[in-house]
Amino acid sequence: MELNLLTFIYLIASVTFIVGLKMLSHPASARNGNRVAAVGMTLAILGTIFLYEEDGTRLGNYGWIFGGILIGTVVGTLAAKRVKMTAMPEMVSLFNGMGGACAALISLVEFDHLAHLDPVMAGVLLMANAAGALKGFLLIIVIGLVIGSVSFAGSIIAWGKLNGSIKDFSFKGQHLFNILLLGIIVALASYLIIFLPANAIFIFYTIFFLSLLYGIFFVFPIGGADMPVVISLLNSFTGVAAACGGFLYENKVMLTGGILVGAAGTLLTILMCKAMNRSLTNVLIGSFGGGSKVGTAAGTAVGTHKEISLSDTAVLMSYAAKVYIVPGYGLAVAQAQHACHELEKLLESKGVDVKYAIHPVAGRMPGHMNVLLAEADVPYEKLLEMEQANEEFSTTDVVLILGANDVVNPAAKSDTSSPIYGMPILDVELAKHVIVNKRSMKPGYAGIENELFFRPKTSMLFGDAKKVLQDLVAEIKNL
Ligand code: TAP
Repeated sequence: MELNLLTFIYLIASVTFIVGLKMLSHPASARNGNRVAAVGMTLAILGTIFLYEEDGTRLGNYGWIFGGILIGTVVGTLAAKRVKMTAMPEMVSLFNGMGGACAALISLVEFDHLAHLDPVMAGVLLMANAAGALKGFLLIIVIGLVIGSVSFAGSIIAWGKLNGSIKDFSFKGQHLFNILLLGIIVALASYLIIFLPANAIFIFYTIFFLSLLYGIFFVFPIGGADMPVVISLLNSFTGVAAACGGFLYENKVMLTGGILVGAAGTLLTILMCKAMNRSLTNVLIGSFGGGSKVGTAAGTAVGTHKEISLSDTAVLMSYAAKVYIVPGYGLAVAQAQHACHELEKLLESKGVDVKYAIHPVAGRMPGHMNVLLAEADVPYEKLLEMEQANEEFSTTDVVLILGANDVVNPAAKSDTSSPIYGMPILDVELAKHVIVNKRSMKPGYAGIENELFFRPKTSMLFGDAKKVLQDLVAEIKNL
């Protein structure tokens, strides 16, 4: 009876994961999507703790279980509340690493159970032709161990690289070394599963150690700007590793959750690569945004730029019919989203049509600009995707670029030697006037010069985005 109730709870939880995921695909429903899936996960956890039975015995160990849940809840809640929006990718990476570690721990515990199986019982299993089942079980354990360990070690390196505590590191022939390492892991795993050798425990722990090493060397050489793509890939790894746990315990909700995370992570990885017009192989071995930079080097002047004053900007924008705002990473750094929304409302009250042009990889994580502007209650209908915005720029009077750089760099269209060549960009130059707000002439994440800043239509408005926007609002009010 209770087992049926548990199955029913797992079914409900699985449905909430799917519905939640669907709701996450739109900014208006994303928060509730998160809540729906969280309720499902809570149900699944409580159901497992109180209703799951093996040989008529419940889990017990409630002190340990709820102690762990309490510590995890406090740490997770505080971390999520305190994290700055710009540090979100590194937190996602850290949390993902914990998921990978959990999956690897499950494999370690279950292998320990297998290894300490009563020798008579193990012999009976083998003789009773259950060797196939035993090997199948071991296969899942090893897959979970390898993927979980790679995901854990890789995510921790990604976390360190994003917060600046770990520097990019690579050596000649590193990719070959990585392939060799992976080859050894696969060979050892095959030997262990096929032959069930006497030194199985030693081989198992060697696989564990080599997988951690592979995770570290897999992420080390990848360029900083490519980190979000790698994190998404590692996220899908964690999903697959968790699904292995679902197989081991015949737990359907764990299996469904793992598969959903694996599939969503893979899709997101592909979408990010597409938005940057790069192949996954190029991301993994290309070192883009890392040490080596080609294209117009940072700091190499490609002409002279002109500046615009705050009062001229105020006049130009107030008397425009149509204005587009292009937000970028700098807007998030400056936390200028509220000031930006204020400017938009002020201009609208003066009869100006104001919209936002959102590049798919503006900022440092998928949907970064959408989340940022949603924080300031900017209506979703004002946010136009790149393709739509590009059709509108030719009839736009002023484009105001706020802390964006790479996503408006024309080198992506014309300079075949540029690391961002081929990446679709916002065609802001089609507008009558382009005003760029940033603090200096320094490059963006790709580390390359931006010719847009030197073009005749472009004027630079230097300063911190928040301060500039607040002053601009005051200036327009005084007109
Ligand atoms: P970036 O090219 O990184 O440029 C941001 C600009 O903001 C900088 O040039 C900086 O110039 C300026 N800035 C920084 N702080 C500021 C402040 N307080 N006030 C005003 N300006 C400030 O940003 P983007 O155009 O958004 O492009 C995103 C980059 O990240 C792309 O290369 C993209 O491929 C990469 N990337 C994104 C993602 C996702 S999913 N979003 C994933 C991987 C990689 P100053 O220092 O002169 O102020």
